[in-house]
Amino acid sequence: MPLEDCRVPIIPVMNLKGGVAKTVTTVALAECFASHGHRVLLIDADHQCMAGELALGEERQLQCETRKRNFYDLLVRMLDDDFDSANLGRFVAECGSNIQGGLATLSVLPCSIRIDDIQTNVAKAKKGFKTTEEFQRIWGRRRRQMQAWMRSTFDFVLVDCPPSLAQQVKFLLSIADSFIIPTVPDRLSVRGSKYLMSRLSTLGYAVSGLGTLWTLYRQQNSMHKAMVAAAERQEPSLDRLPKPFRTIIPNATKIAEATDVDTPNTPASFSAKYTPQFARLFEDVCQEIVQRSHWQPATGEAVRAKVPKVQTT
Ligand SMILES: Nc1ncnc2c1ncn2[C@@H]1O[C@H](COP(=O)(O)OP(=O)(O)OP(=O)(O)O)[C@@H](O)[C@H]1O
Ligand SMILES: [Mg+2]
Repeated sequence: MPLEDCRVPIIPVMNLKGGVAKTVTTVALAECFASHGHRVLLIDADHQCMAGELALGEERQLQCETRKRNFYDLLVRMLDDDFDSANLGRFVAECGSNIQGGLATLSVLPCSIRIDDIQTNVAKAKKGFKTTEEFQRIWGRRRRQMQAWMRSTFDFVLVDCPPSLAQQVKFLLSIADSFIIPTVPDRLSVRGSKYLMSRLSTLGYAVSGLGTLWTLYRQQNSMHKAMVAAAERQEPSLDRLPKPFRTIIPNATKIAEATDVDTPNTPASFSAKYTPQFARLFEDVCQEIVQRSHWQPATGEAVRAKVPKVQTT
């Protein structure tokens, strides 16, 4: 589906380089949209399960694992002949985030460590399934159901990805509209972004890059400054990267502290959680996402866009 026509962006946040702030950024953007009244689905597609833990806290994350309400168990259930898309919502935890004790419009599909070995686990659990091709064929039939559910239930779907093109990432890429690449403006992270772009093209994914998001930026690091400037000049060595967002997320202790899950607190607002200075930056990124994805609130649903910070142009 062309980006121009899409009302509900489904956006994986990915980079083949680890540690570039994919998880922290994805959770903050999900909280930002949700705290502005938008219905958001945050999918944790990483076996580390950190986005789920950041959004739900350790206890709820563990409950989701015990009760088999997570992305892994959803993918397994989808392989059953009698799978009914009306049950998709049962795998999702409501009211994610510690902001106000939970944001009413933030739904979370947490992950499970079992996703790490999905083929072996499923083959063991379900007799008759043996090959990747068999899984892909069935998920291929299911993906449109999942996409339809997402589009009818949420305003934004953000996916925290592992630093790899794991099975579950490929599944989501097949229904995604575009992706965001958080990148530290240094050589290795940029290389991870380039690897990702070339891998996606080799594998033939039609999904396009919504933008490169500079993260963990340090003003005093001359390499960071040079890399950002080179991208602005559209230097040929960087021209394969999606166009960087104007907003840059700095390396800031306050952002790291805000996501410290051992700190049991209930911030009164998104701004209180991240401090007004950094909350504003995440809001600016959300606004750029809205603009670049040509997102429109559905007719008669303007209440969801009630906070004017995230406006369409
Ligand atoms: N803007 C920021 N300022 C300071 N620290 C940050 C910021 N964003 C993330 N961090 C810290 O950087 C580290 C890596 O962040 P994060 O886990 O989000 O990276 P990741 O790309 O998801 O890693 P992985 O590839 O392992 O999934 C964490 O310790 C996190 O607290
Ligand atoms: Mg991560």
